[in-house]
Amino acid sequence: MTAPSTAIVIGCDHAAFEMKEKLKAYLLQRGESVEDVGPHSAESVDYPDYGKKVAQMVSNGRFARGILLCGTGLGMSMVANRFPGVRAALCHDLFGATMSRKHNDANVLVLGGRVTGETLAEEIVKVWLETPFEGGRHQKRLDLFDRID
Ligand code: RB5
Repeated sequence: MTAPSTAIVIGCDHAAFEMKEKLKAYLLQRGESVEDVGPHSAESVDYPDYGKKVAQMVSNGRFARGILLCGTGLGMSMVANRFPGVRAALCHDLFGATMSRKHNDANVLVLGGRVTGETLAEEIVKVWLETPFEGGRHQKRLDLFDRID
């Protein structure tokens, strides 16, 4: 398997299309490279189709990190966490975003476009990208995930 790209794969549904566009601009302005799997308009779509695209690309190792957005963030979380190796975290605040990295090594960030304000969403993305995993006892706990299936 080739090393995962440091680029970020992002996808959404219609309910969070505007937030995706804004976060994409923010990510590009930070100098990140972004792969946008769509949708490319605010027309109604089914979130599982886009959740699957992003989660698959993280699950198969093509991307180390993904960002998913829907109205609440709930549907995208449910979809993404069905994929092996994906640890998707729905974050509503900075504490959750920080801990999802420090303790859970979350590799997919999920946001609710109808729940979280634009400025907070940007701050959440910033913290989520910049906070490292602590490893140690938390890695041991993540290893236990593989024994569940
Ligand atoms: C779409 O109306 C909405 O159901 C979707 O964006 C999401 O919130 C589902 O969990």
